[in-house]
Amino acid sequence: MTTRIIGTGSYLPETIVTNDDLSKIMDTSDEWISSRTGIRERHLAKEETTSSMSIEAAKRAMADAGVTPEEIDLIIVGTLTNDYMTPSCACEVQAGIGAENAFAMDINAACTGFMAALHTAHAYITSGLAKTALVLGAETLSKIMDWNDRSTCVLFGDGAGAAVVRADEAGLMSYRQGSDGAKGMCLYGQNRLNNNPLVSNPTKLEYIHMDGQEVYKFAVSKVPACIQEVLDEAGLTPDDIKYFALHQANIRILQSVSKRLKVDEDKFPISLDHCGNISAASVPILLDEMNRKGMLNRGDKIVLAGFGGGLTWAASVLTW
Ligand code: UT7
Repeated sequence: MTTRIIGTGSYLPETIVTNDDLSKIMDTSDEWISSRTGIRERHLAKEETTSSMSIEAAKRAMADAGVTPEEIDLIIVGTLTNDYMTPSCACEVQAGIGAENAFAMDINAACTGFMAALHTAHAYITSGLAKTALVLGAETLSKIMDWNDRSTCVLFGDGAGAAVVRADEAGLMSYRQGSDGAKGMCLYGQNRLNNNPLVSNPTKLEYIHMDGQEVYKFAVSKVPACIQEVLDEAGLTPDDIKYFALHQANIRILQSVSKRLKVDEDKFPISLDHCGNISAASVPILLDEMNRKGMLNRGDKIVLAGFGGGLTWAASVLTW
């Protein structure tokens, strides 16, 4: 018994902001952004929130899977930008879709968030604690960007992706995940400081800071190694894999991973050109785009992989 993805859905905010739009409000250019990253535009939230996008993505995934809200017994959202400290985004999704039989919780594994949600759902399902789960990655990163820091704000976007997963004979074949907290400060965003009758700190808005080159070096070495491990464990070679659906941070990272695995670049689908980096939401949005374009047939073997803040990373091989 394992865990199979039986439906996907996603939501991107209505407003599209191109690189040229950004170059009108800061010292950047379409040439710099697209040549360094592959990103051409991103969706930014105006009215949408992390929860509202998640609810829409969840409804679309349930429609694709053909499941009712009552059948969902677990909801996990990977996010670092939930709307409230409590209730969790997952609890808001539960209320929004009427999944009254579900237990709901968020997971923060930054850009690895969807993979962490998927693997946690797999652990619940294979241990018998859940049967049908909704796993999501959702972010409103634009609210935690420093719009005066051109080295980070041009990279990220907003959106949500969801998958319905269920106990089945075929599905997840192998998975790996890991963290290196000692390198956490390569990509950080500070939360509230201590503030109580004993200590007083000024309330200050904090934003995301990234040492891009350190994170880049980490990604191009850790991600192919992790993918090779899950392939070995599943007894497969890269040739057996139809697509490698990776976290969408930078097209140069995808090209480097394809080179290291000796796999054609065409096997690495891309959504970062029109979405930018949406942290935990990147992988499920990409997967949903692939699903809706008819790129996946039942029985195909695919690899999913996420990496980023923490530092964290994860990959799995699955039968579609
Ligand atoms: O999702 C989490 C995982 N995150 C990642 O995987 C990100 C990994 N890192 C990267 O993708 C790349 O390191 C970046 C795209 C973030 C940066 O690319 P880079 O080639 O490492 O550029 P850099 O940071 O070394 O900056 C090069 C130059 C600098 O100017 P000087 O010092 O050479 O004069 C920057 O000030 O580019 C300048 N620069 C910009 N110029 C125009 C930085 N940002 C911009 C900008 N527009 N937006």
